[in-house]
Amino acid sequence: MTVLVVGNGGREHALALALARDPGVGALHVAPGNPGTAAIATNHPVDAGDGAAVAELARSLGAGLVVVGPEAPLVAGVADAVRAAGIPCFGPSAEAARIEGSKQFAKDIMGAAGVPTAEAVYCETLDEVGEALDRFGPPYVVKADGLAAGKGVIVTTERVAAIAHAEASLPDVVEEYLDGPEVSLFAITDGASALPLQPAQDFKRVGDGDEGPNTGGMGAYTPLPWAPAGLVEAIMSRVVQPTVDEMARRGTPFAGLLYAGLALTSRGLRVVEFNCRFGDPETQAVLAMLDSPLGEVLLAAAEGRLADVGELTWKPGAAVIVVLAAEGYPGTPAKGGSIEGPRLFGSEDNVHIVHAGTSLDAAGGLVASGGRVLGVVAQASDLAAARRDAYAAVDELDAPTLFHRGDIALKAGRGEIPTPAL
Ligand code: AMP
Ligand code: GLY
Repeated sequence: MTVLVVGNGGREHALALALARDPGVGALHVAPGNPGTAAIATNHPVDAGDGAAVAELARSLGAGLVVVGPEAPLVAGVADAVRAAGIPCFGPSAEAARIEGSKQFAKDIMGAAGVPTAEAVYCETLDEVGEALDRFGPPYVVKADGLAAGKGVIVTTERVAAIAHAEASLPDVVEEYLDGPEVSLFAITDGASALPLQPAQDFKRVGDGDEGPNTGGMGAYTPLPWAPAGLVEAIMSRVVQPTVDEMARRGTPFAGLLYAGLALTSRGLRVVEFNCRFGDPETQAVLAMLDSPLGEVLLAAAEGRLADVGELTWKPGAAVIVVLAAEGYPGTPAKGGSIEGPRLFGSEDNVHIVHAGTSLDAAGGLVASGGRVLGVVAQASDLAAARRDAYAAVDELDAPTLFHRGDIALKAGRGEIPTPAL
């Protein structure tokens, strides 16, 4: 089978790597891809957000499956355009992708489906924001209503900072603060049944010790040694399946990857957010652990046959990804910094590098061209070993304009995260 992956980030590189391992996947193409995907697939200079162009490329390649990675093309209807051309596509329709595209829509679905989430107030004016902040009290949580690449949220004890964030991002959703560790659980769904991937945790804040502003994610690890027994089953039965059922009931089935971001609070599990696609960077760690043939599973989901696929199988051990970001991120990142070192275009050991914001300069050298630039992924017998190998590989890189967090999977690897109740 010929497969086309749409997108150009670390998630798409990770998807391409996992698809390349599936013996059922023959030719592998990426649009537009990046220098990392060029090493394992054929890149095509097609705009990921242009549904007609993506569908035409898929048709000309004879693709048997298209996998749309990022949220923006999904919200823009790229998966609809591919399906309209008669080509199986893994990725939700534009209508279903609203579960990520609008915080308010997601809250509405959760309310109707009885899915536990933070209490929230939709605010169109600063007066409404102020009232909602005072109702919930600190710490304050204010979220821009639309897509914001993980950067539309502020969590702060400073009321003035919460108001300032709202002033720049109305309309907003103001919500109750959720305590407790966060979990990312991805479920593959065909609109009716759903299959969980292994849970992961990502690190949203830019700095060590969870200091500084939110980012798209600075690192991740999987599995979660501290997870309470029955965690995945509880999330599937209380969150994922009711959501899938509610979307189907409304006539807008969600077929694709439903990403549940959850907090395991002192009052039980709560949804922090839904995303309509694989999480980045968790996917890079989760897919490093996957044993099942990814192309076959995604095709079954795209064709509404997911119920015939058994449980996914996983490698033993754990995986860790450490993200290298460009100075300035999550603000304006420095561009053009040189990147040198081993494993940049493939590796022979248990560590590999995914490209996110890289490009080649005129001389063919690898340079930084985005906020999150690279991800260093290690898969090993346990979390502490994966962490050690990932950081050792980070240290082998020569990339003076990039920075990373030093504490990815540190507490979990040391067994310092207490197991929360479900
Ligand atoms: P979101 O864009 O909704 O995913 O939020 C990004 C991040 O902000 C989450 O992963 C959390 O770390 C944090 N966050 C969002 N909502 C809440 C909340 N209600 N309580 C505490 N932290 C939150
Ligand atoms: N890692 C968070 C996200 O993909 O939104």
